[in-house]
Amino acid sequence: MKKNVIAIDGPSGAGKSTVAKIVAEKLGYFYLNTGAMYRAVALFLKQKGKTPDDTITEEDLKGLDIDFDEKGNIYLNGENVSDKILTPEISKLASDFSKIPVVRKILTEQQRKIGSSRPSVLEGRDIGTVVFPDAKYKFFLDASAEERARRRYKQLKEKNPKMEISFEEILKQQKERDKQDSSRDIAPLKKADDAVYIDTTGMEIEDVVKKILKIVKG
Ligand code: DC
Repeated sequence: MKKNVIAIDGPSGAGKSTVAKIVAEKLGYFYLNTGAMYRAVALFLKQKGKTPDDTITEEDLKGLDIDFDEKGNIYLNGENVSDKILTPEISKLASDFSKIPVVRKILTEQQRKIGSSRPSVLEGRDIGTVVFPDAKYKFFLDASAEERARRRYKQLKEKNPKMEISFEEILKQQKERDKQDSSRDIAPLKKADDAVYIDTTGMEIEDVVKKILKIVKG
């Protein structure tokens, strides 16, 4: 029996979060942003003074408590960190720490538990390949590197107009992160063989949503 899960994977800025959130809303499914979980862990470890070069053990992750509310806000040990985790620094740290086996083990377990407890849309890098290889529906969203960086830049500037970062810097960081996420040993960013590939370059969000819902609703 396939799991009542919709897996949406792809590189950063491909539109996964926006699309996954709307798809979940329309279907009455739970929405889980797994990238936000890796970001929250990065913030947690940073606050503990850890760097990605340190050896991270299960002990270091004791006391980690990640929670979501119905609006999709993420809480780290009771604090709403939804905005705090969106900075370029945390983006880089999330990618760095996500290579560490114990980090992946703990988050993968939590994601499986949440996704198995109710019909869910999970969004990330390894949902269709590792977390839920038995998901009922799998999608891989992609877009050109420039368009993805443009979207990220716009999103960051909207959240924080004073942020001093250029489009070129975002593009550079994004390329580094994509390379690292696709080439790591465990659960790399990869399209599952049975995932539907959608190139969202030049597409409106609502058209991507429509395409997914058409497949899911049959
Ligand atoms: O989706 P995002 O940009 O918020 O994800 C931040 C980082 O977390 C990403 O660079 C790699 C990591 N990640 C992961 O390794 N596996 C996932 N399922 C989701 C995110």
